[in-house]
Amino acid sequence: MRQYFIAGNWKMHKTVPEAQALAQELVKSLKDGPNKYMIAPSFTALDAVSKIVKGTNILLGAQNMSTDEQGAHTGEVSVLQLKDLGVQVVILGHSERRHIYKEDDAMINKKVKLALAHGLEVILCIGELLEEREAGKAEAVCEEQTRKGLEGISAEELKKVTIAYEPVWAIGTGKVATPEDAEAIHAYVRKVIADMYGKEAAENIIIQYGGSMKAENCAGLLAKPDIDGGLIGGAALKADTFTPIALCK
Ligand code: 13P
Repeated sequence: MRQYFIAGNWKMHKTVPEAQALAQELVKSLKDGPNKYMIAPSFTALDAVSKIVKGTNILLGAQNMSTDEQGAHTGEVSVLQLKDLGVQVVILGHSERRHIYKEDDAMINKKVKLALAHGLEVILCIGELLEEREAGKAEAVCEEQTRKGLEGISAEELKKVTIAYEPVWAIGTGKVATPEDAEAIHAYVRKVIADMYGKEAAENIIIQYGGSMKAENCAGLLAKPDIDGGLIGGAALKADTFTPIALCK
C-alpha cells in the first residue's frame, strides 16, 4: 500500500517571517499526521524554514534548481547550495517553469539526474495544456514528459522520484480535474512506468495530483486507486486550508 504524499508548493509567496509563521503552525498541526509531508518555500525562506522543520515529519523542499552544480549561472541556485540548507526534495519541471521560463524536457532531465546524483528526492511535474487536452493529447503529452524526464534514471534512482500530474488548466484556476479524469491519467502514467521499469516499480511509485486541490475536493481525488497524494499551491499558503488536506486518510 502506497503512503499518501502531501506537499505544499508555496511558489513566490511569503516573506521570511510569514514563512516561519506558517512552518511553525504546520509543525504543530501535522505532528501526528498519517501521511508523508513536504513544504517548499521560496529560496529566500529555505534557511529559516529549514531550522523549523528539522527533526519533524515535514520534509524541506525547493521549487527548482540549476542544471549545473556551480559556475557562471547568474540568478540560479545549485544543488549543493540547496543541500547546504537542508533541502531534501526538489520540485522539477513545474508547469510554470516549463511554460513561463521555457524549460524543456532535456533541461528538466538534466536537473533530475543531478538532483538524484546528490541524493535529493525529486518531484517531477508533468501535465497537459488545455488545448492539448481538447485535442485528445493529454495522455501522449504526459507520457512524453515522463519518458523524457526520466531518461537515463535507473530503477534504484526511481525510488526517490515522485511524479506530480498537474494539468496546466487546473493550476490556480479553481478548475479541478474530476477524480475520474485525473485517475485516467494517473493510471496511464503508472502503465508508462511499468513499461519503463517493470510492475513492481510502477506499483511503488507515488503519483500526486496537483491543480486546485482543496479540503473540499481532496477526499474524492485521493479515493482513486492511482492518486497517491497532492502537490498543493494556493491551499498550501495557510495552515487552515493545508492541514485538512494533509490529514486526509
Ligand atoms: P494550485 O493548487 O494553486 O492550483 O497550484 C497547484 C500547483 O501548481 C502546485 O505545484
